[in-house]
Amino acid sequence: MTFAIKGDILYSKSLNKVSQNENSYIVCVDGKSEGVFKKLPAKYKGIKIYDYSGHIVIPGLVDIHLHAPQYSFIGLHMDLKLLDWLNKYTFPAESKYKDLNFAKKAYDIFVDDLKKTATTRFAMFATIHNDATLYLMSRLEKVGFKGYVGKVNMDRNSPKILVEKTKNSVKDTILWIEACKKFKNIKPILTPRFIPSCTDELMSELSNIMKTYNLPVQSHLSENRSEIEWVKELMPSVSNYEEAYDRFEMLGSVTNTIMAHYVWPDEKGIELMKDRKVWVAHSPSSNRNLGSGIAPIGRYLKEGVKVGLATDVAGGSYLSMFRAIEDTITASKIRNSLIDDKYASVTIEQALYIATISGGEFFGKVGSFDKGYEFDAIVLDEKDIPTVLMPELNLLERFERFIYRPKDKVLAKFIAGKKVV
Ligand code: GUN
Ligand code: FE
Repeated sequence: MTFAIKGDILYSKSLNKVSQNENSYIVCVDGKSEGVFKKLPAKYKGIKIYDYSGHIVIPGLVDIHLHAPQYSFIGLHMDLKLLDWLNKYTFPAESKYKDLNFAKKAYDIFVDDLKKTATTRFAMFATIHNDATLYLMSRLEKVGFKGYVGKVNMDRNSPKILVEKTKNSVKDTILWIEACKKFKNIKPILTPRFIPSCTDELMSELSNIMKTYNLPVQSHLSENRSEIEWVKELMPSVSNYEEAYDRFEMLGSVTNTIMAHYVWPDEKGIELMKDRKVWVAHSPSSNRNLGSGIAPIGRYLKEGVKVGLATDVAGGSYLSMFRAIEDTITASKIRNSLIDDKYASVTIEQALYIATISGGEFFGKVGSFDKGYEFDAIVLDEKDIPTVLMPELNLLERFERFIYRPKDKVLAKFIAGKKVV
């Protein structure tokens, strides 16, 4: 269980600082990093070495929000905004996962494709269907992934083909959580789809389940302006959307919580997000495709709102976290020039931080090569980039160039010390 990787090692130390280690070693013991070394310490003499000399090695990328069932229509249906998009395309597509045979076929393709990407950890939505969700979890576990999967809850404002009775939603959630005990590395996360899909009664029950089982929570928050208006109508007693979750103690006050999008913060609600240390899952591709807006990530970084990176497949039209890094930077520049230049746009160092340690913290010690972190690493393929013409580039510059010219398949991938690619 002890080995080392040799290569050009790059990782985030903090929001604005990276560690660049050319021609160095990372030692892994029992799934955890022992740190980065210029020379292999004598006590590790003779251990197995994976030699990726000349290649960039970074921590595995952490996708804190995507929808596994929506991979079936990735790249399609970008003509509508959120609420119409859900009704016309997404709910019908997700309803098909009631059929376990269909679900198996679709999730096999999804998991095989996810395996090839830079993603090592994730928090993902499945559908309301227990059998299909458990199948997805078993497939992910078999690959060696670590992360969270949520059986979705929805008991209102949803079509007949994809809605639960409140009681059944609660019962199925408990059955599903119990069935998840057989998994070692893929864990359940409570997943009320968003306020418009869940009655107060269901939210209260889910809150109890959250406490009983000590489960983290994921949902959607303030993605689209019509959605926000609708929440005001549905819950007139709360003063903002953030509070609609907080009322059920499902905004990070009890367990770790991810809220996807958060494009339109409320000036009071944002204080709750900071206090409760809720992760915002930033999904620039989805926010562009569904015309939701551009989340103020520069502001979040400055003011200390936690941010992780997300593809939000299939609102987001790719699985590639490399492209999500690029889009985080470019979206922030567009926001900066067209909407609000009060906050600086996102840098390449910051985007790497968001995609690794910042999102990784949701999973524990994940996203760094410092001693004690779980050993998630990917090796980048810079082939086809004319490296010889610019030998003077430092590692961060090489990483920046890679991000703008990504090869989506990685040369190698390790998750908690296990080589999966
Ligand atoms: N809000 C509620 N459900 C969804 C979904 O499936 N995708 C996105 N982007 N937003 C949502
Ligand atoms: Fe989403």
